[in-house]
Amino acid sequence: MSPQQQLQPQAALFSPSLISTVVQSQLPEGYLMRPLEVSDYHKGYYDCLAGLTVVGDVSEDEFARAFKAMARCQNVYHVVVIEDLNQARIVATGTLIVEQKFLRGCGKAGHIEDIVVHDSQRGKKFGIRLIDQLRHIGAEVGCYKLLLTCSQANEPFYQKSGFECKDLNMALYLNQQQQQQQPQQPQQHQQQTSSEIFPTTTTANIISGMASADCSNNTSLSSSMNGHSMTMESLSASLESVYVK
Ligand SMILES: CC(C)(COP(=O)(O)OP(=O)(O)OC[C@H]1O[C@@H](n2cnc3c(N)ncnc32)[C@H](O)[C@@H]1OP(=O)(O)O)[C@@H](O)C(=O)NCCC(=O)NCCS
Repeated sequence: MSPQQQLQPQAALFSPSLISTVVQSQLPEGYLMRPLEVSDYHKGYYDCLAGLTVVGDVSEDEFARAFKAMARCQNVYHVVVIEDLNQARIVATGTLIVEQKFLRGCGKAGHIEDIVVHDSQRGKKFGIRLIDQLRHIGAEVGCYKLLLTCSQANEPFYQKSGFECKDLNMALYLNQQQQQQQPQQPQQHQQQTSSEIFPTTTTANIISGMASADCSNNTSLSSSMNGHSMTMESLSASLESVYVK
């Protein structure tokens, strides 16, 4: 049985009902925004991700296992893709990880990760649509804030979506091999305005950790990478006026 067949019938990583039809309608004709599917391994998902950082040599089986581990964590991993339907290729992707907290009345924080548009497709507003979509999902699932880490070069891009610079971000790479593979990051802002600092865990470590974890319930996750973090407070309230359901 192939890895895809083992995953059936849950081909999509999360419920497609979370996808905003408003954001979808803003894409050019022939492009579809949807949850990641396990078959996207064969639609250039890794080619797209490679525009962000080192992706490693991941087999179809490894991909399927990571996908399955994430799918088990209901309401946590929301990996969104944009597919060029004419080419059957993934041209953009972004992730929202939902962290269950004890504080803020057991509130939820959303972590935006791995935003990338294929280099042949940049400048078409796909990046901004991805962020719009993740904001929509964050509001739908009840996040009170969204956080992300980015290089200084990308700060203006996220500011266009309403994010602002906040807090110092720290990282400690525990996997030596992964550490050696990390590309050099530009000098980062050093701002410290809040006591809320992420535990130091890379996305890759979260994913590999989840592969062995029992994650049948909503699970608390945090992440941190080189760069500075940005936040959007009062997210749900502001989105009420933007999205029509
Ligand atoms: C950053 C990235 C996702 C932007 O995607 P994109 O589809 O090319 O961007 P969009 O077309 O949606 O741009 C929306 C707006 O942001 C601006 N913008 C995009 N990237 C920008 C940047 N790095 N700096 C300043 N402005 C930027 C665009 O000019 C556009 O402005 P406008 O609305 O005034 O016309 C894309 O360049 C990318 O994948 N980069 C490599 C991976 C990466 O760095 N990801 C971010 C990790 S934190």
